[in-house]
Amino acid sequence: MNTRHKLLSLLIQGGFHSGEALGRHLGLSRAAVWRHIQGLGEVGLSIDRVPGRGYRLTNTLELLCPDRIRQSVSDDATLQALTINVHHELESTNQHLLRLAQQGAPSGHACLAEYQSHGRGRRGRQWISPFGCNLYLSLLWRFNEAPTRLGALPLAVAVAIVRALGQLDIDDIQIKWPNDLLWRGRKLGGILLEMGGDPTSACHIVSGIGLNIHMDQKQQAIDQPWVSLSQITRQPLSRNHIAGLVLLEITTILQQIEQHGLGQYLSEWRQFDAFADRPVKLLRGEQEITGISRGIDDDGNLLLEINGTIERFHSGEISLRPAP
Ligand code: BTN
Repeated sequence: MNTRHKLLSLLIQGGFHSGEALGRHLGLSRAAVWRHIQGLGEVGLSIDRVPGRGYRLTNTLELLCPDRIRQSVSDDATLQALTINVHHELESTNQHLLRLAQQGAPSGHACLAEYQSHGRGRRGRQWISPFGCNLYLSLLWRFNEAPTRLGALPLAVAVAIVRALGQLDIDDIQIKWPNDLLWRGRKLGGILLEMGGDPTSACHIVSGIGLNIHMDQKQQAIDQPWVSLSQITRQPLSRNHIAGLVLLEITTILQQIEQHGLGQYLSEWRQFDAFADRPVKLLRGEQEITGISRGIDDDGNLLLEINGTIERFHSGEISLRPAP
């Protein structure tokens, strides 16, 4: 455990801790304690500093824990087969698992981080990942034989997350093609699927899920409307429980795909299509294409009606545009 984590484990006990007491525990000067407190602030933790009383965490913090993740779901047998690792800090859970996959890590390896310094989003964007308030989770899955319609896999993973959220009784979740999770038009989470091996035979995928749970609006400058689960439910939420639900649903769907293919998940995806039959623009690099969104085909491609003709697109970023 490094000094920052030791400091956090003291603060997490709750209440105020004076700089002097923290310094005594950690063998540090008060100035060094202050520097480490600042370090915690830099990774996204909010800490109150009250003269005469000391420091305390502004919000209670539930750290992720593999055993609590496993125990949080009723069907823990499925999760028992997974290896679940929690890290305080990683560059990116996807990057970490892709590296482990190259070194031969088995299927069913899950990796979660409290903080990502270089969280990756789709299309080369950054995924802002403050400490301890959201879910940053990746799962490695190996296929002996690549499923047919492999391109539709990211959409099936989105269906898994919608199912998991359904268990929290959250309504109005929709999916923006291919796999952005929206709540009433605001982004709640995103999925980055990265692949290795041979897409026509033995291959592996890393499904990376970022889900906003406790992040609050003043905390982050993000360039699109977004929302957190706690803003939706206004009730206490356990990140361990949500991690358990997400892992259970993804694992279940990946096992089923191996046996039965992807078809049924595409039908389910269509029920949650945020932009069905609406005027959209599709950005592909420098290119901007306008049309009416007509859902997806059986390979998960976007169908756009352009001047009365349906065209298919397998990549890009869609957004709504005002009706003409
Ligand atoms: C998107 O752009 O919408 C996809 C975001 C995916 C973020 C998750 S967080 C866990 C995993 N690790 C990463 O670096 N990215 C994914």
